[in-house]
Amino acid sequence: MSTVVITGAQWGDEGKGKVIDFLASQSDVVVRGQGGNNAGHTVVVGDKKYALRLIPSGILNPNAINIIGNGVVLDPEGFLIEVEKLEKEGICTKNIRISDRTHLIFPYHKGLDDLAERSRGDKQIGTTKNGIGPCYMDKVERSGIRICDLMDEEVFREKLSLQLKRKNNVIQKIYGGEPFDEGKMVETYLEYAEKLRPYVEDTTVRLYDAVKAGKKVLFEGAQGTLLDIDFGTYPFVTSSHPISGGFAVGTGIGPNMIEEVLGIAKAYTTRVGKGPFVTEQDNETGDIIRKAGNEFGTVTGRPRRCGWFDAVMVRYSARINGMTSIALMLLDVLTGIDELKICTGYEIRGEKVEHFPASLKDLADAAPVYETFEGWKEDITGAQSFDDLPENAKKYVNRIEELVDVPIKIVSIGPKRSQTIVRDSIFR
Ligand code: GDP
Ligand code: IMO
Ligand code: MG
Repeated sequence: MSTVVITGAQWGDEGKGKVIDFLASQSDVVVRGQGGNNAGHTVVVGDKKYALRLIPSGILNPNAINIIGNGVVLDPEGFLIEVEKLEKEGICTKNIRISDRTHLIFPYHKGLDDLAERSRGDKQIGTTKNGIGPCYMDKVERSGIRICDLMDEEVFREKLSLQLKRKNNVIQKIYGGEPFDEGKMVETYLEYAEKLRPYVEDTTVRLYDAVKAGKKVLFEGAQGTLLDIDFGTYPFVTSSHPISGGFAVGTGIGPNMIEEVLGIAKAYTTRVGKGPFVTEQDNETGDIIRKAGNEFGTVTGRPRRCGWFDAVMVRYSARINGMTSIALMLLDVLTGIDELKICTGYEIRGEKVEHFPASLKDLADAAPVYETFEGWKEDITGAQSFDDLPENAKKYVNRIEELVDVPIKIVSIGPKRSQTIVRDSIFR
């Protein structure tokens, strides 16, 4: 396969960054197609830890081109901070390209994200407050400002002036908030424009040529399937399409150009932010997993909610994404837990349910049906092959593979590149 989509199978933070970095050494191009700096993708190389938010996780391979596609919402301030940080660490960022069709995040988006969350009271979504939702709202409303607009001072001044008047109106009249100053914002963004200019191009041409030439292209998903605006646990979702189908519109390739869809799933489940979570363990088990997996948000530092592996959910994810393979991550975190559970079905108001429901009420009423597994005590972080794993760990992985009905090609047993068991290759 030469084109591979990496998609989160759960609620994000499944370890996508690690897998992208692992496969990036064999890739020519790595592309982001949605989300923005709400993402936090951790890559560990030796003793160094990189937390990537907007820049594709292929950046550590000096030979790969890293594309930020049209479907991403880009915060120029966040982007430039990330570039500066990487450069300071000796990572070359010249290989980044940004689509000229990418929508820009402005301070009023972040302001409105915060104001909207406050106005929801106890119905908050728990967003990252990076302005992601409000920016996508403008895009869909057809009033957003794209990078190609920023590249032309006259166009930019006109667009921002109109938009800022409308936004200040909402901020002041609806929320009673403080308005933003136009002059200052124009000045700041025109400075960003010159810093961004070298990166900006029509990325669809480069991407199409790469795929046509049989180059190895990785499509890097952010967030996860259950955070998808259509297929996630709406409204407790993000405002984009993290699923594999999102890459066609988010990067400008034909859907027939995607060959492999690699779903990234944790060996258990986590979620940051609010919303339903059927297998959540808000108890000592959850605390043990959180501690062992260091389950705290890369972006917000919030403790992640933890629970058992939910095969109903990942089977749904596999279907929606057309998954052809799975990378099962963080298996080592479960070491030492005496008894493990996998959710194989839901019971909703006395009725057995096999498919992940749309209704939040159904999800709230869903009681997980569990299969129980004996755990393992041996340290698995140094295992070199699947056969090296303890019998109980193998049984656990094999059962997940059977329930989800997608081959588990990668098993991850630690954050480092070397702690990766490849059962079957992804690129051919
Ligand atoms: P992403 O958003 O999907 O890229 O995932 P995050 O980087 O937000 O969260 C995954 C966390 O798990 C990071 O801290 C990784 O370094 C870490 N990680 C990835 N794979 C493994 C693994 O197999 N074992 C352990 N212990 N940690 C892992
Ligand atoms: P990566 O790519 C986990 C969650 C937020 C919130 C909801 C909406 O690292 O897996 P938003 O700011 O997007 O409007 O917030 O989505 N969320 C994530 N959770 N991993 C992420 O990204 C996330 N990006 C957004 O916590 O519940
Ligand atoms: Mg993350």
